Amino acid sequence: MLRVHGGTGAGCLRRAAGRRRPHRPHPRAPDLSAFPRAAWLRAERDVLAELSAEDLGYGDPRGAPRLRRAVADWLARSRDIRVGPDDILIVAGTAQALTLLHPVLRAHGVDSVAVEDPGSLGTRQHLLNGGFTTPPVPVDEDGLRVDALRATGASAVLVTPAHQFPTGAVTSGERRRELLRWASDGGLIVEDDYDAEHRYDRPPVPALHSVFADRVCYLGSVSKLLAPALRIGWMVPPPRYRKELTDAKRFTDLGNALLPQLVLARLMESGRLERHLRLLRGRHVRRRDAMIDALAAHLPGAVVHGAAAGLHLTVTYPQEVPDTELAAAALARGVKCQPLSWHRQLPGRPGLVLGYAAGPSGAVAEGAELLGRTLRELTRAPSRPAAIGTGAGAGTGQTVSGGTG
Ligand SMILES: Cc1ncc(COP(=O)(O)O)c(C=O)c1O
Repeated sequence: MLRVHGGTGAGCLRRAAGRRRPHRPHPRAPDLSAFPRAAWLRAERDVLAELSAEDLGYGDPRGAPRLRRAVADWLARSRDIRVGPDDILIVAGTAQALTLLHPVLRAHGVDSVAVEDPGSLGTRQHLLNGGFTTPPVPVDEDGLRVDALRATGASAVLVTPAHQFPTGAVTSGERRRELLRWASDGGLIVEDDYDAEHRYDRPPVPALHSVFADRVCYLGSVSKLLAPALRIGWMVPPPRYRKELTDAKRFTDLGNALLPQLVLARLMESGRLERHLRLLRGRHVRRRDAMIDALAAHLPGAVVHGAAAGLHLTVTYPQEVPDTELAAAALARGVKCQPLSWHRQLPGRPGLVLGYAAGPSGAVAEGAELLGRTLRELTRAPSRPAAIGTGAGAGTGQTVSGGTG
């Protein structure tokens, strides 16, 4: 039981959690107000009580053995990945995993990493920053088009097969087999499993790594589970890259900070993280449904993509209003969303990436209503042609007509 001494206990934590700014959820954030502060504090106290003086010295650059063990168990339970602690490298999030991969991929002759289109702007920027070209590969309702991947000639590809960002497409069985055939011809798959734990209306899809460990470099993090600010993630590289990646991590920072690693290990071991995830799932489903209902009411003709999992959905709309303009106008009114065109290299319908996880259902619905009003105003603006279009969007989708579908 957490004890309250001089304002450092549960009351203080509740006050801190309750200090809210106006509702402006980041489109891809989990509910940060749900961060398990008391459980974290309790686990940190326990960890400190057990820690020896020697433990506070330099550690293993691959990460604390205890966390690597806990992550191995977590991956076996939640992602069907069967690996041992020595197969895992603890890193500062997917962002650092990609940075560590730069020199290693280069040393193996890779100078081009194909990416999904649409696909995450952020991860693409990390690759560009490393000097890689990022040929775009179109995504359809079955996932990445492997025929188009072959045509790029790239020997590595970055994919989000469990819940494609941003369309939400789940890579189909046939496409997975095709992708694995491509990899068995010498390709490397970098599997970004950024939000796979958050699924609602469909059974879990096993990670690609679980079927082809030699050719898949698996990346995960707590950014969507707990908070991006923790900067903790993990990678499970193909065995042939393990030593080089460990060296890259050692030369970068000698390994992640120890205390947060041990606290996270404890939350994983005790089942506390799993309970947290269950709590989040319930909230997310209610918020997602509220957003879909509000979109149906206020953006008729729009198409929702990828609502069965994750923390965001993508909506495409038939009006010829540039999504950058719509997102900027919405932001000026306090609603934060990302234009779909940010995540495209190839032309496609305008759309928005909308987060529903971070705020209460009422605020999520209000945001959707405001978006609808903003879109109507921009459509009527004198410089703009009248609304046209069919409502069909890229990738898998459902026309917004009420309910969750
Ligand atoms: C596609 C994608 N991959 C990975 C991440 C997570 O990055 P990190 O683990 O560095 O916080 C995000 C975060 O928004 C993301 O959208």
